[in-house]
Amino acid sequence: MNNFIFQNPTRLIFGKGMIAELSRAIPTDKRIMITFGGGSVKKNGVYEQVIQALKGHNYVEFWGIEPNPAIETLRKAIILGKEKKVDFLLAVGGGSVLDGTKLISAGLKYDGDAWELVRKGAYSDTVPMGAVLTLPATGSEMNKGAVISRHETQEKYAFYGNYPVFSILDPETTFTLPPYQVACGLSDTFVHVMEQYLTTPGQSRLIDRWAEGILSTLIEIAPRIRENQHNYDLMADFMLSATMGLNGFIAMGVTQDWATHMIGHELTALHGLTHGATLAIVFNGTLRTLRKQKYGKILQYGERVWGITQGSDDERIDLTIEKTEEFFRSLGLSTHLSEENIGEETIQEIERRFNERGVAFGEAQNVTGSVAREILHNCK
Ligand code: NZQ
Ligand code: ZN
Repeated sequence: MNNFIFQNPTRLIFGKGMIAELSRAIPTDKRIMITFGGGSVKKNGVYEQVIQALKGHNYVEFWGIEPNPAIETLRKAIILGKEKKVDFLLAVGGGSVLDGTKLISAGLKYDGDAWELVRKGAYSDTVPMGAVLTLPATGSEMNKGAVISRHETQEKYAFYGNYPVFSILDPETTFTLPPYQVACGLSDTFVHVMEQYLTTPGQSRLIDRWAEGILSTLIEIAPRIRENQHNYDLMADFMLSATMGLNGFIAMGVTQDWATHMIGHELTALHGLTHGATLAIVFNGTLRTLRKQKYGKILQYGERVWGITQGSDDERIDLTIEKTEEFFRSLGLSTHLSEENIGEETIQEIERRFNERGVAFGEAQNVTGSVAREILHNCK
């Protein structure tokens, strides 16, 4: 097991009716800015619950943080927040609203343009923020990451600010999610676990089993959720799986990959494809391309998660990759670039971008431009 420091300061407030806890979670002397997406919260009652809970608090509202939050929008929120001397942020919505708000929370403390913060990659001087999450997927509710887009240049990069001081998760808020967002959330959660699990064998028995526990839970609940998205217990397990998938817990003591994500971000930046949908495609390419490097872990994953114990090692790996792709297809997602009309031009552009930046992703730091091209060819 590798050395590590683990500290996750987010207070998780979980369950039915828990949005009411907001009244206690934010001190009444704070000047709050509440941030929202495009309006889903007005249709499902979340907005009313938030406003009800914040009676007697002092707040302004900022609307319009879009999926894959764009710097062009976030700059406007930073201007408003500075003007109103905001000293607490409350993000209400999906991962995009939370991510965007993390950048706002840093931007409020920064004098330059907020895109400079994104390019720096991290900035920890922030205004405190809390969150009401309505979409299980990103883990943004309990981590300090954010992914910010810039439309002008078709770029999308990770940025690290601070953890939310609290996050409220009421599974009932997910009942109104479009099925496609549910599928993308399941895919995102699955691949988050994989990025931390499917690397080097033998690093931690305990963390491996936590990761396998989340994967098995997702495989078990996914078809039931597709049948009935209004089942509270299923959605509660989905929500908690997503949080536990990317809050640092299953990263303890193990190496991490993240190459699939970095390639996926480029597909979103260039084509606008939803985050979880990019992963459902790219991950299969990653498995095929890096099957030798990930050999031991693919065998373990196949055996423990899919019950694959028969045949030669190569046959078992083939079957495991097949099962994984089938899982994404069972969610209703594409698993090939061609299904999304993405072709050679994009593959070349991603290779060019990786080479230009001189990056090398993955647990072995070997996913360079040319390996990314191979991965993308393997999921054409
Ligand atoms: O904008 P509104 O109207 O609220 O609608 C949203 C949006 O259109 C809708 N929605 C959310 N909750 C709903 C709902 N509709 C009905 N009922 C509800 N309860 O869903 C749409 C998508 O929302 P979005 O926030 O974009 O989805 P998600 O949570 O998947 O976030 C995706 C973003 O997070 C980043 C992704 O790259 C992407 O930009 N990620 C953030 C990470 C992190 N912070 O650690 C890690 C991830 O790997 C990921 O990269
Ligand atoms: Zn993700």
